[in-house]
Amino acid sequence: MPDRYAVIGNPVAHSKSPQIHAAFANQTGEDIEYARLLAPLDGFRAAVDNFRNGGGKGLNVTLPFKLEAAALATSLTERARQAGAANFLRFDGGEIAADNTDGAGLLRDLTHNLGFDPAGARILIAGAGGAARGVLLPLLQAGPALLAVVNRTPQRARELERACAASAGKTRLLSGGFADINQQRFDLVINATSAGIDGGLPVLPEQVFGAASLAYDMMYGEGDTPFMAYALRHGAARAADGLGMLAEQAAESFFLWRGARPDTADVLAMLRRNA
Ligand code: ATR
Repeated sequence: MPDRYAVIGNPVAHSKSPQIHAAFANQTGEDIEYARLLAPLDGFRAAVDNFRNGGGKGLNVTLPFKLEAAALATSLTERARQAGAANFLRFDGGEIAADNTDGAGLLRDLTHNLGFDPAGARILIAGAGGAARGVLLPLLQAGPALLAVVNRTPQRARELERACAASAGKTRLLSGGFADINQQRFDLVINATSAGIDGGLPVLPEQVFGAASLAYDMMYGEGDTPFMAYALRHGAARAADGLGMLAEQAAESFFLWRGARPDTADVLAMLRRNA
């Protein structure tokens, strides 16, 4: 019997995770089965227990359950605790270990796939919801010179800055609304808002994109996202969507469960072909 895993969410039908993990299993020779699990909005805990009692070994967690996943865990890694959110669960006897592999996925995509070095860089994150929270600590640990968080609701960005102040080290932190950065340029501009779900984008001041800037959208879709198009129109050197981050967070999850690190290049090429 193969070990059983799944991605749990609501909705979950669109998730590419089963496809990604099947490809990883194929590549590494690991004997696993990976499914989609739709949980009722008020039934996350019951769905997790059911899967676990049926012998399931682990879950990836997607919207809207990442906060609940962190709350039900019996142990949390530091990065999941800081994010207050988990996208990874591992079941071991009565233990439920939770982690958050989103930040590691983003970092790996930036450094390994896109050749961007965050050390000493000026980084801007737009958004202060769960997506931003999940990547803040790993980004800080990479040692940027400046990490600015801006949000439509400035108060939420300020709270996020305060929450990670103790981990800042030598990095200068800044937070506020979109207008607060209208005199500055950044090497990396990350869209961590959910505006793209409705085809929108955070309207950042145009000059934030410098001639060498990378614009990174944590969303993905067919072709350039609205944020990528906006950034390229306003002077960014290049723009990337979040498909690489998706593949890399999956690889990190696979590694944590199985101890084998898959190569994402082929899988990413497959995802791009099917996008
Ligand atoms: P997620 O877990 O996807 O981050 P969330 O916690 O609901 O979801 O946060 C959504 C983020 O996208 C927030 O930063 C939100 O800004 P507010 O805090 O002001 O609500 C941001 N957002 C959503 N739609 C937006 C839009 N049209 N323009 C700018 N920011 C938007």
